[in-house]
Formats: sequence, structure tokens, C-alpha cells
Amino acid sequence: MVVIYPGSFDPVTYGHIDIINRCAKKFDKVIVSVLNNSSKKNMFTVDERMDLLKKVLENYDNVEIDSFNGLLVDYAKKKNCSLIVRGLRAVSDFEYEMQMALVNKKLAKDIETIYMVAQGEYSYLSSSIVKEVATFGGDISCFVPKVVEKALREKIKGGQG
Ligand code: PNS
Repeated sequence: MVVIYPGSFDPVTYGHIDIINRCAKKFDKVIVSVLNNSSKKNMFTVDERMDLLKKVLENYDNVEIDSFNGLLVDYAKKKNCSLIVRGLRAVSDFEYEMQMALVNKKLAKDIETIYMVAQGEYSYLSSSIVKEVATFGGDISCFVPKVVEKALREKIKGGQG
């Protein structure tokens, strides 16, 4: 069974990697797909986000890195995949996730959304909080892999953060 794990991944954190790692063990293939949506203000371009994902997930044979535009359900149909995985951290995620799942269900009744509960140690972690800590010079080594940390530091130094 193939699953799509969609998101912004701006940038990928240990929280995302934990979900991908667990999905890679349970499913035949995981398609990690970066939303290519120009209206959202991201720190990294889609290519940069995909490149970081490829680097941190290079040891997985059954993980594909891709990107998508437009509706997630249309993309899922194009990929011939009827299962979407999302991570759930805290109750605060629930409302947004529920809304997305219900909208997606209305749009495509054969596509299911399933949730993987984030490990407790990552339940507070988000790309936004990592960017904020990095912007103010804090230590982010326990939130993201080295290659992501380096990319973040360079972005911030270059004044694009
Ligand atoms: O990492 P994020 O930002 O929480 O991921 C959100 C994402 C990419 C899963 C969501 O924004 C999405 O699926 N966008 C595509 C547009 C879409 O299908 N919208 C209708 C469902 S809300």
C-alpha cells in the first residue's frame, strides 16, 4: 500500500522524519509531497525543501520526494493513491486536520485520511517554531538534522529569513 504524506516542510524537522520513518515501516511506499503554493510565504523554495528532504531521507528505499500544486485529492488521484497520512501533535492540531479531512472527503469520497500521533518528544515541534528559534540565534540541533540546521543558518545570514 502506498501513502502520501503531504505538507509544507519549510523546513523538514525531526517531527516529520519520525512520522515518515514510521510510515516507511508500515507501508510499501511513502510519497512525501511538498505543497508548491506560491500564495504561502515560505522561507525555502520548493526545490530547496525537496532537496533537504532528499538529503535527510536518502537511506530510505521506499520513500519518494515529490511536490504538488492545487488540490491534494487531485494530486492523490494522479498518483493513484487513496491514502493520505498526517501527523497529529496536540489537540490544537485537531480542528484544522478535521476540517481538511472532511473537505477532502467531500471532494473525493474514496480517499481516506489517516493520522499518526506524534511521539511525545516531538509534540511541541513545528517548522515555524524552529525558524523562530533559529532567527534569534537559539540552538536548533535537537529539532532538525545538521544539514537543515546549516541551510537555516545560511538563509538567516543571507537576510532571507
Ligand atoms: O504542513 P502543512 O502546511 O500543515 O500542510 C498542509 C497541506 C499541504 C496538507 C494542505 O494545505 C493541503 O493539502 N493543501 C492543498 C490544497 C487543498 O487540497 N486544499 C483542500 C483541503 S483543505
